[in-house]
Amino acid sequence: MVSEIRYNLHLGYLKNNFFMKIKSICCIGAGYVGGPTMAVIALKCPHINVIVVDNNSEKINAWNGSLEKLPVYEPGLKNIIKKVRGRNLFFSNDVDNSIKKSEIIFMAVNTPTKKQGSGAGMAADLTYVEACARKIAEVSTSDKIIVEKSTLPVRTAEKIKEILSENSSGLKFEIISNPEFLAEGTAIEDLFKSDRVLIGGDQTDSGKAAVDLIVDIYKNWIPENKILKTNVWSSELSKLASNAMLAQRISSINSLSALCEKTGADIDEVSLAVGMDSRIGKEFLKASVGFGGSCFKKDILNLVYLSKYYGLDDVARYWNQVIKINNFQKSRFSKKVIDELNGTIRNKKITILGWAFKKNTNDSRESAAIEIADTFLNEGANISVYDPMVREKTIKEDMKELWINSGDSHDQIVSKSKQINIYNNAELAVNGSYCVCIITEWDEFRDYDWENLIKMMKKPSIIMDGRNIINKTLISKYTKKFYSIGK
Ligand code: NAD
Ligand code: UGA
Repeated sequence: MVSEIRYNLHLGYLKNNFFMKIKSICCIGAGYVGGPTMAVIALKCPHINVIVVDNNSEKINAWNGSLEKLPVYEPGLKNIIKKVRGRNLFFSNDVDNSIKKSEIIFMAVNTPTKKQGSGAGMAADLTYVEACARKIAEVSTSDKIIVEKSTLPVRTAEKIKEILSENSSGLKFEIISNPEFLAEGTAIEDLFKSDRVLIGGDQTDSGKAAVDLIVDIYKNWIPENKILKTNVWSSELSKLASNAMLAQRISSINSLSALCEKTGADIDEVSLAVGMDSRIGKEFLKASVGFGGSCFKKDILNLVYLSKYYGLDDVARYWNQVIKINNFQKSRFSKKVIDELNGTIRNKKITILGWAFKKNTNDSRESAAIEIADTFLNEGANISVYDPMVREKTIKEDMKELWINSGDSHDQIVSKSKQINIYNNAELAVNGSYCVCIITEWDEFRDYDWENLIKMMKKPSIIMDGRNIINKTLISKYTKKFYSIGK
């Protein structure tokens, strides 16, 4: 009690004398969240210096290098970086000094699904978050506000606080949860016009003061009625809940797409009809080959794990079903290709158009393309891939990671690697192919000269539209073997 009063007094003192003048923010993690988020804060808060650090020096060099080769591709990002880099936005490998000289530290490190130990395959791996907390405790020479930007299991702030208090020498740290809701491909738009900014803090005077200081940053461009203050646990759980509910909508519509294919209903018409009910809404009802991305699967698994941990097995099963339907959708798609090719695809060329998990990003983490390609490779097909933004190196690494995780032998890996060819042009990827699978909804795919592409394919030419982007009436002039989802 006495220490709490002293702590609150201390933070009160800091609020009046130090924190009120936030001069420098440090963000640990220069990835898909850290990079764009800090670029926007730097743009909207020219009075604050923003330093983004990462222990991956290759990434930092890329952020400091050519605007054409930034590590993250997002529409609009390049122009912001051009304006603020070197003005009040800096990318640095010097983690220690950047932490030392900043009053606020954002943690935007990755929180993947644990690969080993208790909770493997489900719980979030907090190794990187823990490493950040230890680093902050080790190098800090002044009190700080620590902001959880990464998506974390409920009650992580407690663990961070423990690490900080054990390692520090009398310094005070306030932990704030400020989860990020941007979606890749529209990150800048989302950051400019957030539906809401969620800021969770301790319900103490010092906690509330720290929350207000974070509110002050966002107030520079977000209307105050969109800034939501909650307790830390609500904020942490709301992030997992939002992702789970968004993914649930996709699995719901995808499950119905299978029923449409059996009954003659058209999933786009069903989506439209259902979504026009204002209680349901039209967003996130687009049937697809399955959702991908670095977050939905891992965050739902995390929710499943938390539910199990608290003995809520029915709740865990409920959310796990969202992932099961997503797997069902991906394997349904691959099976259809194999069936259409008379049950065997051995030595046949199959083209994958689109490797990114959605359009307008160079990110391919958990993209449906990865598992679909692997199914084809296991059946002995030769795969050719084209994506406008994902680099060849990334595609190869994605496959290698899957093979290693699925326990493939060295010989299998060598043999499967030889069955993949990656092209920087769609025509080369399609030439001589038995089947073209559209996995990402890149605009350019819609606009291709399909008449010409189909001429270059083996006959009968099979087109599988995993994103329902191709005009059926138009393409039916060139091939009878056109399939889309839920139609
Ligand atoms: P990312 O992998 O792109 O970036 C994380 C970065 O952190 C990497 O560059 C890594 O090198 C760096 N890092 C890890 N440990 C470090 C350490 N100890 N010191 C310095 N740097 C370190 O990840 P991301 O996609 O930006 O996601 C970050 C977090 O944000 C995750 O928790 C994710 O769930 C959440 N999130 C992601 C998105 C998204 O669209 N990608 C959206 C909202 C929230
Ligand atoms: C998602 C959420 O939308 C963000 O709010 C959240 O911040 C983020 O996760 C996160 O925590 O990382 P993101 O994964 O970047 O964003 O992209 P989404 O637009 O949500 O798309 C996810 C996947 O669902 C993609 O593969 C996309 O193609 C698919 N999708 C999306 C559909 O299949 N149908 C839809 O109607 C919408």
